[in-house]
Amino acid sequence: MKRTLSGSLVFILLLSIGVSAQVKHTDLMPIPASVESGDGLPLGITKSFSVAFAGHTDDRLKAAAGRMIERLQRQTVLELSRSTSGDPAAASLVIDCKGPGSAVPKLGEDESYTLTVTASRAVLAAPTVTGALRGIETFLQLVQGNRYGFFVSPVVIKDSPRFPWRGLMIDVARHFQPIPVIKRNLDAMAAVKMNVFHWHLTEDQGFRVESKKFPRLHTLGSDGNFFTQEEVKEIIAYAAERGIRVVPEFDMPGHATAWLVGHPELGSAPGPYEIERQPGIFEPALDPTNEEVYKLLDVFLGEMAALFPDAYMHIGGDENEGKQWDRNPEIQAFMQKNGIKDNHALQAYFNKRVLAILKKHGKIMMGWDEIFVPELPKDVVIHSWRGQEALAAAAQKGHLGVLSNGYYIDLIQPASDHYLVDPVPSDSPLTADEKKRVLGGEATMWSEWVSPETIDSRIWPRTAAIAERLWSPADVRDVKDMYRRLDIMEVRLENLGLMHRSYQNTLLRRLAGSLDIADLKTLVSVIEPVKLYQRYQQRPQTMLAPLTGLIDAARPDAEGARRFSYLADAFIAEDQDKTAKPLLRMTFERWQTDGTRLAVTMNENPALKEGAQLGADLRDLGKIGLEALANDGSSASASKEWYAAAIARLEEIGKPKAACEFVVIEAMKRLVNKTSKIAVAAQ
Ligand code: ACM
Repeated sequence: MKRTLSGSLVFILLLSIGVSAQVKHTDLMPIPASVESGDGLPLGITKSFSVAFAGHTDDRLKAAAGRMIERLQRQTVLELSRSTSGDPAAASLVIDCKGPGSAVPKLGEDESYTLTVTASRAVLAAPTVTGALRGIETFLQLVQGNRYGFFVSPVVIKDSPRFPWRGLMIDVARHFQPIPVIKRNLDAMAAVKMNVFHWHLTEDQGFRVESKKFPRLHTLGSDGNFFTQEEVKEIIAYAAERGIRVVPEFDMPGHATAWLVGHPELGSAPGPYEIERQPGIFEPALDPTNEEVYKLLDVFLGEMAALFPDAYMHIGGDENEGKQWDRNPEIQAFMQKNGIKDNHALQAYFNKRVLAILKKHGKIMMGWDEIFVPELPKDVVIHSWRGQEALAAAAQKGHLGVLSNGYYIDLIQPASDHYLVDPVPSDSPLTADEKKRVLGGEATMWSEWVSPETIDSRIWPRTAAIAERLWSPADVRDVKDMYRRLDIMEVRLENLGLMHRSYQNTLLRRLAGSLDIADLKTLVSVIEPVKLYQRYQQRPQTMLAPLTGLIDAARPDAEGARRFSYLADAFIAEDQDKTAKPLLRMTFERWQTDGTRLAVTMNENPALKEGAQLGADLRDLGKIGLEALANDGSSASASKEWYAAAIARLEEIGKPKAACEFVVIEAMKRLVNKTSKIAVAAQ
């Protein structure tokens, strides 16, 4: 193996002059369990960089090394050797893997690794291929550059996850999300060391998996948008390559309209049924008293059990209100005859029958909170969307559990909210043994309001913060530092092909009908879509509505707003940052100029007219900001009247319009408050 030692040496010597003291391992996400910085020279990443294997190797590991080299090339613009078959003694990165681990990843598999970087080499040691995959992601995140070139500072990282279940659920039913969406999101999951793809495949609004046994399920329940079994296998293989399990969900007995389009005889009311186009909770439910239901489920779940290799199968079980059951005299008679006292007990009966079917097919049952009843067998896993308390209660009763309450990324809340939610909070009432039953958590991407074009922006980068919560030690909780690293993570995710940022330009150009979108970018940098369930309340739409408007271009955690807030606070602080004022002035001038223009152009644009007031609001935010900055005790804006008018206007601007809201209002109020005080004191 040829190494251009002279080049590397020159590089290292140069590097050692300027930066040997510069040690930066703080950009990692998720933060590893243990990081010890070394004090030697860095490892140079030059065009002679090479990867080789010292221990076990197989196709999965080789493919992962190949992908790593490609990513490193894109990042460094260096043409690197693709060969991984060279002499490990001469390689820059040696991957020393003890054994294959499980070819299809399993819950609880050893994902640990140790990464030791010195000036001469990096050694990645792992007991399993999955551990090596995790370590490769860390290595890539360690690469940094300066005037001398790219390098990795010396370090010893010993890492393993806090929780074994670190998932992302994608609902492909409300809005179908085709293969490229799933694949790129699996890439992103792997980049932040997530290991469970929970595939929400059936809903009122769509039945998205091919059944060869009951083809009416997917042909009539999907508008033609479903995954063939070959495609399912392709996704499972793609996920396994990246150390990610695939857990399918077939939601029942409620959320079942799409099942009944092709099989109305399984419903609790006669039908006919049509694919649901609205968001919400609907009545159609499988009939738990009908033996034909269990016959179909036995064959269908058997078919799915053979298709999906993971040990776990999710049966949903949420939000069944039993209204069809209440109205069906035969169901009522069945309940009376069998001493089933209410719908909850009837669902428990249903779950017991489904549990027996899943056991027969070798699967472990998992379901949302609603399936939890005292007599539920202990080997059923509870997936909590209702809260940590529900999860704790299940753990106390002996169930394994996974948390999603607090990780509902469809609700557009800031990453900081999700980040601080812990599956096992510090005040958890659980004993040590009970805590071990909490397997981890899952971010949930419900797809009422996402299209393949926008979905990345609703998942990323916030899911990286959730991934860190689930991987890193519990005391990693610095929100400001999380956001700093999240910004870096966004760039890394773009290197993987994620569209969480790029889609926005496309959408804005389409809306504007123009390449000139600078003013719209200013606007969307400080607005967000309304949160929680307000979007539907403010603008009711069906699942067929286009998701291509201003609200879709706006992203959660609007970064312009976050930066503005930091800047305003730096200006307000007792030990004022003197650079803040000119930067604030520039910001306000831009808001005023762009807002003035947008107030006119949006009003003339049918696709943007609904949000034209946001343009006028942006203009006024700029104006108020400039007046506030001018408050030096002599200007007219120092008056009480000015202050009252400014606050009133900010209140008005803070109200949602076009289902979007400014997220700079609180920071603006702090600024106005502070500058009025300066003004009053100076008078
Ligand atoms: C759920 O949000 N109904 C699981």
